[in-house]
Amino acid sequence: MSWSSPGGPGRLAGDGAVVARAPAKVNVHLAVGPLRSDGFHELRTVYLAVSLFDTVTVRPGDGLSLTVTGEGTTGSGADAVPTDRRNLVWRAAELLAEQAGVPADAAITIDKSIPAAAGLAGGSADAAAALVALDALWGTHATRGELTALAARLGSDVPFSLLGGVALGSGRGEQLSPVLARRRWDWVLGIAGEGLSTPVVYAELDRLRAAGRVPDGGELSAPDPVIAALRSGPVPALAAALGNDLQPPALSLRPDLRRALRAATSAGAVGALVSGSGPTVAALAEDEDSAVRLTAALAGEGVYRTVRAVHGPVPGARLVG
Ligand code: C5P
Repeated sequence: MSWSSPGGPGRLAGDGAVVARAPAKVNVHLAVGPLRSDGFHELRTVYLAVSLFDTVTVRPGDGLSLTVTGEGTTGSGADAVPTDRRNLVWRAAELLAEQAGVPADAAITIDKSIPAAAGLAGGSADAAAALVALDALWGTHATRGELTALAARLGSDVPFSLLGGVALGSGRGEQLSPVLARRRWDWVLGIAGEGLSTPVVYAELDRLRAAGRVPDGGELSAPDPVIAALRSGPVPALAAALGNDLQPPALSLRPDLRRALRAATSAGAVGALVSGSGPTVAALAEDEDSAVRLTAALAGEGVYRTVRAVHGPVPGARLVG
């Protein structure tokens, strides 16, 4: 990897702060292959970036410090957000500093709207936003390709959080090809009270497969119907093509999610699925007005902790302000 020499600070505002934000994602197609020898599963997935954003603010500092504010900061289980090296943002900062040959000096604040451990790639969004913000703060001038390579080392979903839009993911999810989507898609996200750990959901899939309770994943289902539907609609075509191999293990771990999925379709969603490793339910709406009505109906049901209307595709990690 070649790095241009540090060229001084990037975009600085007022107190020297640089701000970036990155979106949540929904996997509208998630086909999971068998467990690989490296501990990951081979995937074919179609990512859609949606309009729920985390914001990362970085300021000049002495060493690294991390503060987390907003949604999902109070959890004690899988959804607890650490403020030390266990946080992907901390590792993103160390990795960028090491690669660029600069000291890892920054005071970092993550303002979370994307709940943690929800299947929405909130931690990956934070890491992607941190890479973009720190690159500007430190003046390290990494290319998008260089940032994407660092992102892939941080986590399977981090490259997509950088890219945004719609993309086909393969490998463990980090190898991306952008997909053209000509229209806007409206969704309602039903967020459950307690998060689910991604490795635990993958392990439950392996267990269900070993017990013969779900297909073995030897043949990855093709993403083509979802990609065709995403390009041009209509909405029921996308609803019919939605699929997620992690839904059965998520339901096995959280039987209540069946009721949450049923609630979405009964309230008028055209289709619904568990987002990524869950437990968020992504309910597809006919249009923006329907999404607003669906949000109100689902908020009254009491099956979710929070209900949010979102749309996609939206861009990936970007500087703001
Ligand atoms: O890449 P990331 O760190 O987000 O992955 C978290 C965990 O999810 C992995 O350690 C692995 O258990 C599981 N995983 C997987 N196959 C993938 C992606 C994630 O088994 N393709």
